Amino acid sequence: MEHRQASLLWENQNLNRTRMSQLLANVFRSDDSIPEQFKISQAIEQREYLIDGELRTWTGNLNPVLSPVFIKDGNDFTQKVIGSTPLLTAKESLAALDAAVKAYDLGHGTWPTLSVTERIDYVEKFLTAMRTQRAEVVKLLMWEIGKTQQDSEREFDRTCDYIVDTIKAYKELDRNSAKLIEEQGFMAQIRRVPIGVALCMGPYNYPLNETFTTLIPALIMGNTVVFKPAKYGVLLIRPLIEAFRDSFPAGVINIIYGRGRETVGALMESGKIDVFAFIGTNKGANDLKKLHPKSHRLKAILGLDAKNPAIVLPDADIDIAVSECIMGSLSFNGQRCTALKILFVHKSVVEVFLKKFNDEVKKLKPGMPWEPGVSLTPLPEPGKVEFLHDLVEDAKLCGATVVNEHGGEFLHTFFYPAVLYPVNHTMKIYTEEQFGPVVPIVPFENDEEAIQYVLNSNYGQQVSIFGTDSKRVAKLMDAFVNQVGRINLNAQSQRGPDTFPFNGRKDSAEGTLSIADALRVFSIRTLVATKSTERNKQIISNIIRNRESAFLSTDYIF
Ligand code: G3H
Repeated sequence: MEHRQASLLWENQNLNRTRMSQLLANVFRSDDSIPEQFKISQAIEQREYLIDGELRTWTGNLNPVLSPVFIKDGNDFTQKVIGSTPLLTAKESLAALDAAVKAYDLGHGTWPTLSVTERIDYVEKFLTAMRTQRAEVVKLLMWEIGKTQQDSEREFDRTCDYIVDTIKAYKELDRNSAKLIEEQGFMAQIRRVPIGVALCMGPYNYPLNETFTTLIPALIMGNTVVFKPAKYGVLLIRPLIEAFRDSFPAGVINIIYGRGRETVGALMESGKIDVFAFIGTNKGANDLKKLHPKSHRLKAILGLDAKNPAIVLPDADIDIAVSECIMGSLSFNGQRCTALKILFVHKSVVEVFLKKFNDEVKKLKPGMPWEPGVSLTPLPEPGKVEFLHDLVEDAKLCGATVVNEHGGEFLHTFFYPAVLYPVNHTMKIYTEEQFGPVVPIVPFENDEEAIQYVLNSNYGQQVSIFGTDSKRVAKLMDAFVNQVGRINLNAQSQRGPDTFPFNGRKDSAEGTLSIADALRVFSIRTLVATKSTERNKQIISNIIRNRESAFLSTDYIF
């Protein structure tokens, strides 16, 4: 409710912005225009959370889940409350941790000692159950974070594919370790084994996919997990909670809800978390890591902030550059960590680029997530519209103009994309991550200006270069290889394909994720080694032939 009041206050202060009504007045729709299959007729009151294989019922305070979607009734707009989730305390979150610690049992629990085949069977069972919940999860993705139907379906399907590919990669990893190696008079077998108890936390923009890209690898490698859903995009985990309970042994996966500082803070302070998988801000990650009393025992896998630039060279194919920059900067309203967040466009082509870019922005359809063809939707973060508006106003004060029609107009949670030009280093938008539909365009003359931007940035995730002159492109590529994790040529920045390494430098990430890399980061190599004497060979041979060890074995699965 607080949020709604803030929005109304904001709107009242800006009544002179009525020109927005022409474009935006109809962006929010009446209740009866919502297709039946997407309606949430009754708020979902979630009281269940999962600890030690048991769905417990919370009788304490609940956190209301506000949709970014407002319902229009004549001239009134009401923010839709779609449900509520448990506001657990440190007590429940520590109970979840205890269950995970017990299930891991110092590495002697059932889960960390199961065979590869057995753990795969559990994950496959979960996947089958998860698939049955597609429609419900997709619907909640739309309502909770305003993701379009198409993108929500894509997120769900991509996550299922990710699980399938993870199983495939795990089998391959197992096959590759099923042999003994001989080296300098030693014989050894090296295998990957779990690390311990993992805490997995995902982001609100990919609350299902990005969370599962750490959660599933953590589980399949034999770790036990405490999982706390993202800040927004919480209810959509509810349809999967029974699948988690029924698919895995007790304590292997525990799901908690509530405020981060109360729940997750207590987990970190306990010193019992061994792996911390977090997608969010570098500040959030830092604050939490610092709470761990033995930071050397904490392995962190972090996906953090980014300010990926695109560099459009004079010889670039402008149509390709424009279409990739549109997708790169505005898909899911720019709320992707990989989004293009600043565009450096060479002065010689900036005019034509701006014209074509603005023409394409105009084609993006604003509306509600379930409307066919829609791409611009309301934003889930409270205060986001105000934050973006401030960035735009600051840039205007420092000499930029909003160069697209309706740019920066807003209504409640909806913010129409603002294309800012010309942007320079004096503006906040030059360095601050907007994570929303504001597109700053910097004209440049000398490639060195773009190079220096990347070198001096606090972030180091990706960069996109648009050009056709191989010599010039190669020079830029070489300038960036030690700065960012991925250099895209004539393509937007992105994470996929999921088999590619996904990482970043500086404040952008810690560790590398991909289907295969995730299996590595949630495990450690352990080996059994012996001198290659006849006697030792005989012992090893007996162990293998008689299947006396689960670790030392040449069995593998197809
Ligand atoms: O928010 C960050 C995501 O990992 C981006 O993934 O590039 O596939 O949209 P994407």
